[in-house]
Parts: sequence; structure tokens; C-alpha cells
Amino acid sequence: MRRIVSLFIVCFSLVSFGAYAAETQHGPATISSPDHVLSVSLTATPSGVTYSVSRFGEPVVDASRLGLRFKNARALSTGLEITGVKTRSVDNTWKQPWGEREYVRNHYNEMTVDLTEVRASQGADSGRHFQVVFRVYDDGLGFRYVFPKDSGLGKVEITKEMTEFNFHDDATAWWIPSRGWNRYEYLYQKTPLDEVTMAHTPFTIRTKYGLHISVHEAALVNYSGMSLRRVSSRHFVADLAPWSDGVKVKTKAPFVTPWRTMQIADSAGGLIMSDLILNLNEPNKLGDVSWIEPGKYVGVWWAMHLGKWTWGSGPHHGATTKNVKDYIDFAAKYGFKGVLVEGWNQGWDGDWFNNGSKFSFTKAYPDFDFKELSKYAAKRGVRIIGHHETAGDVCNYEKQMNAAFALDEKMGVRQVKTGYVANGGELIRCDKHGKIHNEWHDGQFSAEHHIRVLEAAAKHHVSIISHEPIKDTGLRRTYPNWLSREGARGQEYNAWGTPGNPPSHTAILPFTRMLSGPMDFTPGIFDLLYPKAKPNNRVSTTLAKQLALYVVLYSPVQMAADLPENYLKHMDAFQFIRDVPTDWADTRVLTGEIGEQVTIVRKDRHSEDWYLGSLTDEHGRFMKVSLGFLTPGVTYEAQIYADGPNAHWKTNPYDMTIKKIKVTSADTFPIRLAAGGGMAVRFTPVKK
Ligand code: NOJ
Ligand code: CA
Repeated sequence: MRRIVSLFIVCFSLVSFGAYAAETQHGPATISSPDHVLSVSLTATPSGVTYSVSRFGEPVVDASRLGLRFKNARALSTGLEITGVKTRSVDNTWKQPWGEREYVRNHYNEMTVDLTEVRASQGADSGRHFQVVFRVYDDGLGFRYVFPKDSGLGKVEITKEMTEFNFHDDATAWWIPSRGWNRYEYLYQKTPLDEVTMAHTPFTIRTKYGLHISVHEAALVNYSGMSLRRVSSRHFVADLAPWSDGVKVKTKAPFVTPWRTMQIADSAGGLIMSDLILNLNEPNKLGDVSWIEPGKYVGVWWAMHLGKWTWGSGPHHGATTKNVKDYIDFAAKYGFKGVLVEGWNQGWDGDWFNNGSKFSFTKAYPDFDFKELSKYAAKRGVRIIGHHETAGDVCNYEKQMNAAFALDEKMGVRQVKTGYVANGGELIRCDKHGKIHNEWHDGQFSAEHHIRVLEAAAKHHVSIISHEPIKDTGLRRTYPNWLSREGARGQEYNAWGTPGNPPSHTAILPFTRMLSGPMDFTPGIFDLLYPKAKPNNRVSTTLAKQLALYVVLYSPVQMAADLPENYLKHMDAFQFIRDVPTDWADTRVLTGEIGEQVTIVRKDRHSEDWYLGSLTDEHGRFMKVSLGFLTPGVTYEAQIYADGPNAHWKTNPYDMTIKKIKVTSADTFPIRLAAGGGMAVRFTPVKK
């Protein structure tokens, strides 16, 4: 205990109410991480409460304010005293039903600081109290506010969370703007820290001496999403997405805020190795989750984005019984578990973007025979993946979702892709009088809606893949049926985005968006140029890089997104997509620099195979990695899918070399990536 609370000044029990003495009596309360890498201190003075973070004794976050403001009550920020400090150490390991690794170690020191308002002269509401809880790991930390039932708060409307992040050093930041029309779907900007305006989280920086920090939040439940607004030089403040009436959060005590998190590592790859966000979430609430099925899928999708088929009815309707049967046959033949059927339901005709209330989630178009397809799929060991595009009309969706999930269950559907295509700030909420209000995709209404969907879906053994979602804050631990989501620019931007995703995009995602959780990026486009369908668009990668994405961008569900005929033209490369699993026993990062390159290896959960994915930005790379992750003494066959000698994303994207060599854990393995290229490898033990 003494080691944990090393600097803690043990006088809190002596501090009496009202007797406001010298500032040193109010802290700091300090706690260090298990291996003394990080330390956090909290100080309360009459003018405010601050926390600070240091690493090996060097400052990382300077004194940063804590506190909340309310609509109809005095702010909780000044006149607070520390009235108690408790610490504990926790070290346990828990099992993920699916994930990047099977077992997750949760090892931290915790400090709970009681803060009480001392305002003898101000009568009525003095004595309000709350806690700030810090969990400090060697690779990061989280803290949250806790308001007990007797906090004196009752029903509250929060108008501002005053939490600050006052970074000590100059840094480079990778960020996307928040509160914009395009939700989370922006290209990342790389700027000096002091040029950031307002950013979504995960917000990742590298300090001038190479420390990597990513600020995010964990367990966003019954609260609004947090953006970071820069107020001066390196000084940021939490900015919560408001309700349509301007209030940030509507709640009542007892309540907790989400965890405010910082992952902190020496290397960029260290950020990816951190399990902080998952660890700070509550365990599985759904009980038996054996019905949740990770896996790969194909489907009626890219043809619409290329303009070959339509979501709506008519001569080019994509989701017809005939087309879906073809997809089911393809899926069954090549080992895919799911077939996504976008455009199966009524409501797509005309301007669906502005008419979300027209969507039915139970009525199919007449040329889509759901019953027949469900039987056809079941016979072939395949499942239909449903689709609920709401166009942001949550009001319409919530009225229908129970019936829709019941129908899905009847049809053997185990996964539904949802969609919230609407401008930022324009989700439709209807109040109890039927009046319409517009809300943010990252506001409290959206946070609560997504949980309602998960709970309704779970009752019918349905898992959710959400597009245009609220950001991921690790809730897949609590609701393992939240399989994946979008929440960044995915492959679709290569069909119609101007510009599409540049080669660096997927070298930034692993260190930013992906730190929050899985992404339904929809990799695997083999026909990279499609000059007839979309002459102004293309996929800006090599073919090998499309394969690397399956390992680099983690998701328990991965689409083989291209049209079947394009896979049939490249059966050799297609073999990798057929082989690669989506559920892992272990994950390690071998190389990585934000926006430049990344190499990740993952071990299959159901075999002794390892898979490697490596990719680069616009520049070619030659690196050597150790194969020390393989089991010693075992010979593996490495099936290598590499950029060919003349490959270049711009001029020669299809040049690819596929070869097999024998390797062991003692080997050093060369990784040659063409400009905009990638590499994918399957390591499989050689049977004696
Ligand atoms: C946007 C989604 O990201 C995309 O995957 C989907 O096809 C369209 N919305 C239509 O729902
Ligand atoms: Ca989208």
C-alpha cells in the first residue's frame, strides 16, 4: 500500500469541514501504476480541483481542471475539499468471447478521491459531494466522476464538463474535426498540437521526444460523447455533444461519467497493444453469448456503390431473390458465412436520404423472397445478414426494431448491419408528443439509442454492425453483440469520395480510429480501377495491400467486398481472403509509425496458424522483422502475398508475387512494400 500511495499526504481525515486551511492540506493525492511508469496526482485548492500526469517523474499532462457545470445548480468546481482517499490494486485476467486476443490482463492501481463542497456561508446545497476515480496502468490511465445517490445532486442537466487536458510538451497531432456534417468520416489531419481546433477522439499525438499519447473515453453510457476543444496553445477542454436544446447531459444521481482515457506508450505500436479501453468497460451483460458469430461475409453492396445495381426497386434492383441466390452459392462454395442484402426492404425509392420515415424494416420488396432465401441459405450453411438503413430517422426505427429483429430471428439472420446516413446533428428524435428534434450522432440520445438497439437485438440473438454510428468506447465487452461498426472513412469512399482514401489513410487508422475498437472497413477490392463504372475514382492501393487490410484493420466480421466475378479473376490472391480468420488468440505489433507503415501479426483462435499484415503509405519500405512470435522448434510454411518487383499503387497496382517458403521462429523475415503497397502472410505449421 505504501508503494502505491507514495506521495500521498496522509492528512485527509484530519481536514474538518469549513476549516479551510493551507492548500497543502488538500493534496496532492497521488497514485502510481503497478510498475511505477505513470503517476497521477489530484490537488484541491479553494479555487479548483486539478489532476496531473507524469511518466518516470517527467510531466506529461500539467495541472488540468476537473469539474462540472449545471443548468439549475451551482457548478461543482471550486470550494471543494478532499475528504477521503481510498486505494486498491487489481490484477486479473478475463476472457473475450471474440477479439484481438483471447485473454486480457487487467492490472492497475486505483485511487478514489472523495471531494466535498465546503461553503458554510452558502447554506442549502453546501455539502454536495462526489468522487473522482483514477485507474492507473503502466500503459495508460482512466478517470471518471462518480456521483452517489446521496451526492446532493438529484436530477441534473449538465451544461459543461470542465475536464481539461493540458499537455506538457509540443507534439504532432493526428485528428479529425468534430461537430461537422460528415460525422467521423473525414481524412485525418496531421498538424502541430497547437493548430488543432476541435477534434473527435481517439485523438493521437506524438510529443517532440517521441512519447505517443491517445486521448479517448471508455464506457460511453447515458452520457454525451466527448470531443477535445483547444482553448490555448497545448491546452484542451472536454466539449460534450449537446442535446438539441443545448444541454449536454440529462441525468440524475446516482450516475457515473464515462472514463476519460489516455493510452501512453513509447512507440506507436504500443498504443495498439494497450487493452485500456476494454478493461475500463463493464463485463458482459448478456450472459450466454455462444450465439454470437464472428466470420467473413460477401454481399449485395459494392455493385450499388459502383452504380451497377440499385438499392431501390426497378430494372437494376440489386437485392433480388435471383441475385441473392447467386451470392449464397458463391458464399457456400468459397467458405463465407454471411451474405449481406442491402436494399431488400421497402423505402429506398426516391430521395431516401431525406425520407427515412418511409423505411419499413419488415416489408421486403416483392422481388426479394425472404422466406425462400432463408431456406436456401440454411440448406447451404450460410446466413443472410440483414440491413437496416435508417437515414438517421431513429424515431421511425425504434417503432419497428423489435418486430424487425423478431423477423430476422425467424429467418435465421444472426447479424444486422444498421445505418444512420444523416448529416451530423440531424438524427431524428421524436418526443412523447410526436414532435421532432434533431440530435447529434455522438450525443446522449444517440448513445442511449445504440444501447436500446443492442438490447432489442440480443433478445432475438442478433448482433449489430453499425454504420454512421456513435464512436466505439469499448462497449463490445459489455454487449458482445456489438460486433463492429464504421465510424471512419471506409472503402466506400473509393467509389465516390472526392478525393478517395489516399494510401496513408489506412496507415493512420490503426493508431487513431482503431484504438477505439473494430471497424467494418470492407476490404478486399480486387478490381482497383473500374474506369467504366467510375472514371474519376479508384482504390489507391496495390492488390497485396487489400489483403494486408484483413490483418491490420481488426474486425470480428470482415467483408470480401468486391463483386464475385473479380475474385474469380484472381483466385490465387483470393485464397488469402478465404484462409484468413476474423477471431484471434493473440495480436502483436511488429513495426509501426503513425501514417507511415504498420506490421501486425495475429494468431488464429482455432488453429496454430499466424497471419501477418503489413502496409505502407505512398512510400515504399524495406524492413526486417523477427519471427520470434512463432513457436520455437516448429517449421512453418509461410504463404506470402507480396507486392511484385514493379508494383506501385499508382502505376502498377496489380503486380503481385505469391510464394511459399519454410521458416522458423529463429528467422528474420524481410518485408518489402511497394509505394502504396502491402504484404499478407499465412504461417502454417508443416505437418510431419
Ligand atoms: C453508408 C454505409 O456506410 C454503406 O455501407 C451503405 O451501403 C450505405 N450507407 C447505404 O445504407
Ligand atoms: Ca458510411
